[in-house]
Amino acid sequence: VFHVKHSRPGSLSFLTERLDDLERQGLRRRPPAAAPTDVLSFCSNDYLGLAARPASSAPSGSGASRLIAGERDEHRRLERAFAAYVGAEDALAFTSGYAANVGVISALAAPGDVIISDALNHASLIDGARLSRARVVVVPHLDLAALAGALREARPARTWVVLESYYSMDADGPDLVQVRELCDDAGAALVVDEAHALGVMGPGGRGRCAEAGVSADVLVGTLGKAFGGQGAFAAGPAVLREWLWNRARSFVFSTGLAPVSAASATRALEHVVEHPELPRRVLTLADRLRAGLIRNGAATIHCPPAASCPGDAPLLLGFGHVVPLVVGDPRRAVRLAALLSDRGVAVQPVRPPTVPSGTARLRLTVTARHSEANVDSAAAAFGDALSALRREEGRN
Ligand SMILES: Cc1ncc(COP(=O)(O)O)c(C=O)c1O
Repeated sequence: VFHVKHSRPGSLSFLTERLDDLERQGLRRRPPAAAPTDVLSFCSNDYLGLAARPASSAPSGSGASRLIAGERDEHRRLERAFAAYVGAEDALAFTSGYAANVGVISALAAPGDVIISDALNHASLIDGARLSRARVVVVPHLDLAALAGALREARPARTWVVLESYYSMDADGPDLVQVRELCDDAGAALVVDEAHALGVMGPGGRGRCAEAGVSADVLVGTLGKAFGGQGAFAAGPAVLREWLWNRARSFVFSTGLAPVSAASATRALEHVVEHPELPRRVLTLADRLRAGLIRNGAATIHCPPAASCPGDAPLLLGFGHVVPLVVGDPRRAVRLAALLSDRGVAVQPVRPPTVPSGTARLRLTVTARHSEANVDSAAAAFGDALSALRREEGRN
């Protein structure tokens, strides 16, 4: 038995007040109960339904940082396969997308440089930019005119444009051809995080850069979403890999990606390459879900302000396999998610700070595990839950 002899009771008690504060604002997060098996889940980033496949039989651990443990076949096979998939010369594997983004950006950008960052970039891109100590210019989401202005102002500093190819909270993304042209005109480098697009969008799931015929200077992809595993990679020219191997601190000072994860993701990629119908199916199902949600009371930006589309109707955003429904108030989003759960559909309420204040939403993700009937049931359950919410709010 272990007896605590030295403790300072109460030194963290202020955290209870802070948590109470979050509770009052409807922003406190608790681990959600695992969805029961009879519930239809629309919460997963396992877009191709590959996460439940058994892992490969490769070793479970790397044993040390790869700089110390030495090269392993599992890592190199993964890196070469993903580099070839996205049309890059080479790639370096990281233990997560978070580690990849933090490592890549802080290793590339330096004090005196300028990072132009989309306002809705993922936390890992923001944290990487902060760690780099470069000057960060945040431009409004997908605003090409603002990007052009920021590029002009950044001259003559070395400049990095950092964005995602598919924003998973808004289901939208940049015009990558125009972004590439602006970067080329300004001599800026383009870093694209394809976390949510890769495996689903573009030819054979090769991402939105491949779809646009654009080559990013650095392309980051995660293995924990469409590829159903864990880890990430940064792809680009061979010199990028060499630099990151030397200077990306989240790579250098961290145990290498588990060989079992590397081998499993390589197998998942082989499966995707052999089954190009898989990503197409997900996108078709998502279009079906969008149409069903509109039939069941969701508004769109094209929706006329009429009785058929009342102002309190959740607003359907974007395109592709992520289907966001903006509700506004975080408590209303949580309540709508609970009413959907009562009807056998698990969806994720997303609240600030993950999304801007006043734009709490439900985020539904379609995966290859869904059937057309599943998608139709979810849309019908949404209509039912929305009516129940309006009754509770006295709006009927
Ligand atoms: C855009 C984006 N980049 C990076 C990450 C981090 O990836 P990972 O979960 O592999 O750490 C995520 C999500 O988690 C993401 O949404």
